[in-house]
Amino acid sequence: YSANPTTKTEQTFAMIKPDGVSGNYSSAVRKIILDSGFSIIREVLVQLDEDTVKSFYAEHSERSFFPSLVQYMTSGPALAMVLEKVNAIADWRALIGPTDSGMAKVTHPQSIRAMCGLDKQRNCVHGSDSPQSAAREISFFTTKSLTGFIPKHDEL
Ligand code: TYD
Ligand code: MG
Repeated sequence: YSANPTTKTEQTFAMIKPDGVSGNYSSAVRKIILDSGFSIIREVLVQLDEDTVKSFYAEHSERSFFPSLVQYMTSGPALAMVLEKVNAIADWRALIGPTDSGMAKVTHPQSIRAMCGLDKQRNCVHGSDSPQSAAREISFFTTKSLTGFIPKHDEL
């Protein structure tokens, strides 16, 4: 699940998924982000619709878990964020840990997915896996067609 390291300042796309927001993990995850040296460049609380999720996760559209993934990702609000720091893409992937939160609890107990995720679907957070994905996902979430609102920090 690692991305290639770099010494360049980068932006990556992060999201606290519906299980993370509804489980009240937004503040804890934001604290880890800031304590780890990332700047939060943009942040928007969004209610994703089916078409948006299908497009965001298009690479997985043929997988058997896709319908369930769409259902889960539309089940409640998610907090979309653009993060910036040196080596942001690889460092954020390292912080979140493996895709399967059940596995993460065993192999990467300090990771965010171990802390707040439940299983290989409800894994609490998203992170771009490459510079190409980061560029795509950041532009995807900064188009005006996507509605949402900026939460007050005391509501996170
Ligand atoms: P993937 O891109 O493989 O993982 P990551 O989020 O670590 O980049 O999969 C995208 C999302 O799809 C994953 O976060 C949760 C969901 N998913 C499932 O629901 N079931 C699965 O078996 C897998 C592999 C992923
Ligand atoms: Mg992925």
